[in-house]
Amino acid sequence: MAFDLQKLLRPHIASLKPYSSARDEYTGEEGIFLDANENALGSVSEQTFNRYPDPYQSKLKKKLGEIKQVLPANIFLGNGSDEAIDLLFRAFCNPGVDNVIIMPPTYGMYEVSAGINDVATKKVPLSSSFEIEVEKVLEAVDQHTKIIFICSPNNPSGNKISRQSIYQILTKFDGLVVIDEAYIDFSDEPSFSLELNHYPNMLVMQTLSKAWGLAALRLGMAYASKEIIGILNKIKPPYNISGLTQDTVLKAMGNTKVLADMVKEILVQKDKLELALEQIPEVEKVYPSAANFLLAKVPHANQVYQKLIEEKIIVRDRSKVQRCEDCLRITVGNEEENKQFIQALKEVLHVYTKTT
Ligand SMILES: Cc1ncc(COP(=O)(O)O)c(C=O)c1O
Repeated sequence: MAFDLQKLLRPHIASLKPYSSARDEYTGEEGIFLDANENALGSVSEQTFNRYPDPYQSKLKKKLGEIKQVLPANIFLGNGSDEAIDLLFRAFCNPGVDNVIIMPPTYGMYEVSAGINDVATKKVPLSSSFEIEVEKVLEAVDQHTKIIFICSPNNPSGNKISRQSIYQILTKFDGLVVIDEAYIDFSDEPSFSLELNHYPNMLVMQTLSKAWGLAALRLGMAYASKEIIGILNKIKPPYNISGLTQDTVLKAMGNTKVLADMVKEILVQKDKLELALEQIPEVEKVYPSAANFLLAKVPHANQVYQKLIEEKIIVRDRSKVQRCEDCLRITVGNEEENKQFIQALKEVLHVYTKTT
């Protein structure tokens, strides 16, 4: 099946003349800058922020590319992964006409972002063991299906999706396949970004919000062919990544040892938390997770969630989500937080199951 990027692209985006910023037109770093209507005197803050940042984040992409073994030309950086998701809809999906496929239970923003862009979402649920039903997904594809979203490790179930199934979708679907790897740093799976050259229809998303611990900075990555990256760059807001974020992340990227140590510790805590959950008699199931959270099935999940809030312990109630009935999603905390959570959960479940 041949992938034709130009056919996939919305025609008005193909012919769009993008905004050309001051920093697009002159890319040198030295000179007297009188081109961007900035404040030449400085900033009303301790740190200096008076100059617009690099619109294409070249230093950051170079460093990130070395760490991830991806060429800078194959990297798009967004204000969180959510920006990349939104731009994909705007680039490829005609409102009121096109559709995308998602596989619930999965990350909620694919559907919300589709809705914002007036794009229909076709849902092909994962199996009861949270695997892709490949045949059903392919059957759901029609002439207006532009994107298939796959999340692996999947949020909220936590499992990594069978690689074989992902390869099948990549080879049998001639639209764009987005593989969201927000939690890949916690998993032992290699990233699909290492296979970009084999799949022109693949876009891999990652984020610094999870293992890197930089959620407040808002930085999401998308890796794809340089043609797809070119389209995202063409339609993004000119200075979408702040200078503060670029500088801070660039420095943080030197700390890969801290990343590795934190991931190791979180995985140790995850194992302990899993064990502790499994030892609570009322907990019906703890699903295997390759991420930094666990999905657990408990009786009366919604009420348990409310009771935990009274104890100032906040987990995510996923009980209304298809295939996650009576499930709570628990992010792995630090050792003390996990202990307090387990203690509170035991008490809540004990009291609750006795009185109902
Ligand atoms: C699967 C998945 N993708 C993306 C994101 C959002 O990432 P970002 O913080 O980069 O917008 C999340 C956040 O929870 C997520 O679970």
